[in-house]
Amino acid sequence: LRVALLLAIESSCDETAVAIIRGHTGEAAEVVASEISSQIPLHREHGGVVPELASRNHSLHLRGLVEKALSDARVTMEDIDAFAATTGPGLASSLLIGSTAAKGMACAMKRPFLGINHLEGHLLSPFLDRTTVPPHIALIVSGGHTLLLDVTGPGSYRKLGSTRDDAAGEAYDKVGKMLGLPYPGGPEIEKAALGGNPKAYDFPRSMLHEPHLDFSFSGLKTAVLYTLQKETGELPVADLAASFQQAVIEILVKKTLRAARQAGRKQIALSGGVSLNKALRNAFFAAGQSAGVEISVAPPVFCTDNAAMIAFAALLRHLAGESSALDGDIHPNLPL
Ligand code: KG4
Ligand code: ZN
Repeated sequence: LRVALLLAIESSCDETAVAIIRGHTGEAAEVVASEISSQIPLHREHGGVVPELASRNHSLHLRGLVEKALSDARVTMEDIDAFAATTGPGLASSLLIGSTAAKGMACAMKRPFLGINHLEGHLLSPFLDRTTVPPHIALIVSGGHTLLLDVTGPGSYRKLGSTRDDAAGEAYDKVGKMLGLPYPGGPEIEKAALGGNPKAYDFPRSMLHEPHLDFSFSGLKTAVLYTLQKETGELPVADLAASFQQAVIEILVKKTLRAARQAGRKQIALSGGVSLNKALRNAFFAAGQSAGVEISVAPPVFCTDNAAMIAFAALLRHLAGESSALDGDIHPNLPL
């Protein structure tokens, strides 16, 4: 039995995050600290993420978050067995801040460094309280990605489909903007949709009936735009939000269940910011129940960007004896 304590940094986009995880081979992993400093209010006035602002703020907050994480976990730097950071995909200048800091700590403490793929962090987040990952179909739905994968274990990922244009979260954010809602649009549309009729508008379900497992959300976004351009009076924001959300949910649920059926998997794991959406979760739970497929989701705090998921991915690799070179680069377009 091996026990390991890992510290990880996530700084790929607009959240600066530090987490410490303790794990044992073959036993449960425990997140002993998870700090997040969100830059959302800072970017909100610009209607989206400004890379230069993001990287400046990562460097401003990182040190304080590392100190807070160590004190929350009641450990010192000497107790940490390995240091990890997201090395891609993401904004280059933001990735550099976190990965350089983690490498610096690894170097100073003479411990291994692990560069982690942000998408692998999301992908594994529904299993963060254990150290085993069952075979399953993974759906990663975030602001940057919509990915469907067949997973046979940690590190064994076969891509089944992805978006050909906008990511699901990106579509939420763009439609949110059109409806005059604050950034990010995802949670705002979820709120607005609560008071709306999901059948008020019949928006397109692009690619739903095509045989492949790819997604497309730009046609849906454009359909919302044309519809609201035709509205003369006050915008029916709740109905538009509910009808848009209904289309997204139907596409995601149906394609993911089809993937599970085709691959013969009995488990589906949802991750990424959009998986925080309660209507989406409930639709998956209902569809999973009637298809006899178990649905796993990460706890809400670990759905949007966080360092605990990066620490967990790093822990599995560390326990498997892996590490990364200190002179390795960051990879803004890193695939899974
Ligand atoms: O995973 P994440 O924090 O960052 C990326 O790696 O992209 O995901 C952020 C995305 C944003 O597009 C945001 O609008 C969306 O997740 N999101 C939601 C909800 N909460 C966040 N989308 C729909 N419903 C939500 N409740
Ligand atoms: Zn993310």
